[in-house]
Amino acid sequence: MSPFRSIEWRDGALRLLDQRALPKEMVYLELRDYREVAEAIRSMVVRGAPAIGAAAAYGLALAANASKAASVEQLMQDLQAAAEILRASRPTAVNLFWAIDRVLERVSSLSEAKVQTLRQAVLNEAHLIAEEDIQANKQIGYNALPLIPNPAKILHHCNTGSLATVGYGTALGIIRTAHESGKRIHAYLDETRPRLQGARLSAWELNQLGIPHTVIVDGASGFLMKKVGIDLCLVGADRIAANGDTANKIGTYNLAIVAKEHRVPFYVAAPTSTIDMSIPSGEDIPIEIRDRSEIAFVGSEQVLPEGSPVLNYAFDVTPAQYITAIITELGIVYPPFKENLPKLLRRGTQNEQGPSYPTTYPELRHELRNL
Ligand code: MRU
Repeated sequence: MSPFRSIEWRDGALRLLDQRALPKEMVYLELRDYREVAEAIRSMVVRGAPAIGAAAAYGLALAANASKAASVEQLMQDLQAAAEILRASRPTAVNLFWAIDRVLERVSSLSEAKVQTLRQAVLNEAHLIAEEDIQANKQIGYNALPLIPNPAKILHHCNTGSLATVGYGTALGIIRTAHESGKRIHAYLDETRPRLQGARLSAWELNQLGIPHTVIVDGASGFLMKKVGIDLCLVGADRIAANGDTANKIGTYNLAIVAKEHRVPFYVAAPTSTIDMSIPSGEDIPIEIRDRSEIAFVGSEQVLPEGSPVLNYAFDVTPAQYITAIITELGIVYPPFKENLPKLLRRGTQNEQGPSYPTTYPELRHELRNL
């Protein structure tokens, strides 16, 4: 287990590890209002697609607890109002919208129940989303093992570890599983300008886990492939369109092009909650544009002349043609993604996945849903 929890429900509050303060300090914030959760997502106290999905689900639990509704209709209205504020916090990661919709659908499906029962159902669904995320990440790590040579030099972008998820991590989780399985892994971490998720967060996580790593500037990836030799690239995802085009942290697209030129396999790791089949291609994925200050300042120091404009895309879209495979908890998907992603998702509904990581999830699901 990681020695920290990025997201935790404790004594009726959502406890978040403030990722803006890392690696300098471990500061926990206790949120009791869903509006504070929306603000924490917007300001990146909590970040990473699966983590913001789970945080939003707990945000709805806070809204349900605070609601004075005497009827089911009133409670649903209060939840819809909170959902609207939470949805507006960040646009790109589909996990945010997926988690909110899932909680609301769960509550709607129980509309015969009493208000107090529904309040509890909101919290239970948030717990399930959180627990499933950890299980899915472990399964992703396990599924990826055959793809990781021994020894392996792996290039990673952004932060996709325990901080970016409820626990364990996706792409960084694969690095962790491979290391724990005894493979000799060396991770090269893109620092990931402008918010330095690679340098501040991924390096911090790998340090704690004792996994050998080296931080590079984002622009070094091509030369690194030439000089050091990289066996594979591993990145996460914020939204995967039906054709496999993948939105992820800005710089991912550049890395994928450089990887193709050097014939380095380029893998995307994500839970199936990141796949958005309603979006046919990456063209339609909303891309967040963030504040000028993220580029204009390094820490508290201004590095740009006052008059120079910036364009701060927080994400980019890597076209499917650059992606070797997508690694999910239900298995590994290869191109053509348009045909193979629906097959993968069907496997989920038919419960036909391959060998599974030991899990207590089915019992937990039964316990939490058995209202
Ligand atoms: O802006 P961020 O830090 O939320 O962006 C995070 C990423 O792009 C991650 O790669 C992605 O969310 C996957 S995290 C498992």
